[in-house]
Amino acid sequence: MGFVITVDGPAGAGKGTLARRLARHFGYAHLDTGKLYRVVGLAVLRGGGAPADPAAAERAARALDAGAIAAGALDEAELASERVAGAASKVSAVPGVRAALLDFQRNFAARPPDGAAGAVLDGRDAGTVVCPGAPAKLFLDASPDVRAARRHKELLARGEVSIYARVLADIRARDERDRNREVAPLRPAADACVIDTSDLDPDDVLARALAHIAGRTAS
Ligand code: C5P
Repeated sequence: MGFVITVDGPAGAGKGTLARRLARHFGYAHLDTGKLYRVVGLAVLRGGGAPADPAAAERAARALDAGAIAAGALDEAELASERVAGAASKVSAVPGVRAALLDFQRNFAARPPDGAAGAVLDGRDAGTVVCPGAPAKLFLDASPDVRAARRHKELLARGEVSIYARVLADIRARDERDRNREVAPLRPAADACVIDTSDLDPDDVLARALAHIAGRTAS
């Protein structure tokens, strides 16, 4: 098993940016685990089902296999929409959905694609459930207003219609579901390095993460 770095935290905390930069820095493979839940949410929506319906959600999760992922299921542009994010946050509370996606994530960490020497997994429970033994764990957080402002800017930059108050309400609703669900609730692992990114730029966040990882590597 190569070196594994986990990056968890709520929406808009900067996980994706940090995880991509860490993967580039070390030459590791990167898995955005949120995309797995988004694919499941999108599949339920497309099938005309309700994301909060456990049976429909679990069926969609079981249908998602490594072959579909390798064929580009995680690359669809529609996965980035707020509608799909909301659906993802609902299907992700279903225990059977989480169980169905666990093996793929653990295999990715244990045997990263393309012979990479390590993996960076970002999500909500990468450090607590998927890879509790990972040597380096980061947990990013930021105030809801800062996270909503970042997300709003991102949506506008993509040419989408976005209303700040609506984005903030969606972020709060997702936080509430992610933190309070019974299975794998969003929380930092006991040995995670917690970074509040509210007043930091991506370079500062990367520097702090690298300092943590260097310490972990040495131990
Ligand atoms: O990170 P992203 O915004 O793409 O995640 C979408 C939703 O998927 C989150 O709101 C969360 O409910 C769920 N998720 C999860 N566990 C993960 C990653 C994402 O429950 N490891």
